[in-house]
Amino acid sequence: MATPGIAIRAFVIGDYDAACALWNAAEGIEICEGDSRSELGAYLERNPGLSCVAEENGALVGAALCGHDGRRGLIYHLGVATSARGRGVGRMLLQHCLNGWRAAGIKRAFILVATDNSSGREFWIRNGWESLSEAIPMARDI
Ligand SMILES: CC(C)(COP(=O)(O)OP(=O)(O)OC[C@H]1O[C@@H](n2cnc3c(N)ncnc32)[C@H](O)[C@@H]1OP(=O)(O)O)[C@@H](O)C(=O)NCCC(=O)NCCS
Repeated sequence: MATPGIAIRAFVIGDYDAACALWNAAEGIEICEGDSRSELGAYLERNPGLSCVAEENGALVGAALCGHDGRRGLIYHLGVATSARGRGVGRMLLQHCLNGWRAAGIKRAFILVATDNSSGREFWIRNGWESLSEAIPMARDI
């Protein structure tokens, strides 16, 4: 359900500075390797229209990076400004991602939630996501 005054639109590279400021201020989100302006621009081009921002009165109050690899979807850095929380903005961003995946034929998606981000975890559970007890996340630098 849409929240009055909030507009969701595709993330464009011109949103980069405002989105980084929002993410830096949000607990539970870590700007890391792969998040430079050029890398993020390449990510947006590879996943057209999937990443999104929320605006209120012309100001950016939410942002999410969203993509897929042709089989599974992924969301990174879904964050809402503290001033706009609790009004359904996070869910609207998530809905944009879900709509994009469905249009692309993607049937399942993953997110990584920091172990100390219990509040973020509750948001995902409330929106139908499940913890994976049968798998552990692993990674390496390339
Ligand atoms: C998590 C976050 C994105 C939620 O954004 P939001 O706009 O406040 O969330 P919404 O208002 O859309 O909430 C959607 C639903 O989730 C629930 N929810 C949201 N945050 C919650 C929390 N901390 N605990 C329990 N439920 C929560 C809401 O109650 C609502 O459920 P309901 O309408 O069915 O009752 C926001 O708090 C945030 O940016 N946190 C910091 C960054 C972060 O942790 N991001 C996730 C990284 S993995």
